[in-house]
Amino acid sequence: MPKITFVNYDGCPRAADASDVLTVEAAPGTSILEVAEECGAHVGSACGGNLACSTCHVWVLAGYDSLGDIDEGEDDIMDKAFDVRAESRLGCQARLGDEAVVVEITPESLQAWLDEHPDARKQAG
Ligand code: FES
Repeated sequence: MPKITFVNYDGCPRAADASDVLTVEAAPGTSILEVAEECGAHVGSACGGNLACSTCHVWVLAGYDSLGDIDEGEDDIMDKAFDVRAESRLGCQARLGDEAVVVEITPESLQAWLDEHPDARKQAG
């Protein structure tokens, strides 16, 4: 099964010797958002993965070509996102292939996750 690594997976500042990456294995065909929800990486999903919000926006740092192509719907919703880059994907639409993938969760996605989890936001201060 391919590995997926989430960089800055919870958005929390930490000591220099502590890791801010989370790596897990997931079956090909699983969306980045589905993996994040299973492993606890803080990828936002205000619309519940229904391609309506762009809060699941991530930057794919490695393995971009192993994800499926961006279709017109994803491309349209990506227009709502902030700081869109060549390596941008929507986590609810991008599905794992056979290769390892590294993604960085965008600040807007981390903020959306906190907005969806008010108890965690209180703990984060
Ligand atoms: S969760 Fe809303 S577009 Fe992906």
